[in-house]
Amino acid sequence: MVKLEIPKELPKNKLEKAGISKKTNEEHLKLWQGYAKNNNKAVEALNQRKNLKNVNATFSEVRNQKMGESFAYGGFLNHKVFFNHLNGDGEPTKEFLALIKADYDSFSNYINDLKATALASRGWAFCCFHFDTESIINVIGDTQNTFPVWNSNLILAIDMYEHSYFADFGTDREKYIDSILSIIDYNAVVKNIIRD
Ligand SMILES: [Fe+2]
Repeated sequence: MVKLEIPKELPKNKLEKAGISKKTNEEHLKLWQGYAKNNNKAVEALNQRKNLKNVNATFSEVRNQKMGESFAYGGFLNHKVFFNHLNGDGEPTKEFLALIKADYDSFSNYINDLKATALASRGWAFCCFHFDTESIINVIGDTQNTFPVWNSNLILAIDMYEHSYFADFGTDREKYIDSILSIIDYNAVVKNIIRD
């Protein structure tokens, strides 16, 4: 259980250049801050909990608090990864190209898979580095806390919740994805491989 510092502002990024309005970004920061605050509330409630009896899997306070903590922490971390790699030019680095070579052969194959993952998702497209195979996998996230693959690190995230694109792109999810991909900083992406 981890208590989080509330983010004060978005990291330096090119979101407005990519067509995401200032208003959307301001509201998005509030949501990010809300995940950190709610994570801390859930952690506090669980730390103070004395009664671990009368717990069940259908409806119980412990269940709600633990689910809430997982959702809020995921919401914080997903956004942290997302906002921290949006100040680039969308061009892959040599290190990133080496990572995708075995499974995707080319950068365009990798991007096609990532875009398909994002379009098939209801919440997030996650790109993860898997420590067993030392390779990259793209994973659907329908919510803030689904569907992680164990023993991997989240290194690239695309927010596919409507709040991130609807006000500026309407239903054109593909145009939004292309805009985000055009500002990805792959140096920042590769740095996320390191466990911290
Ligand atoms: Fe979001």
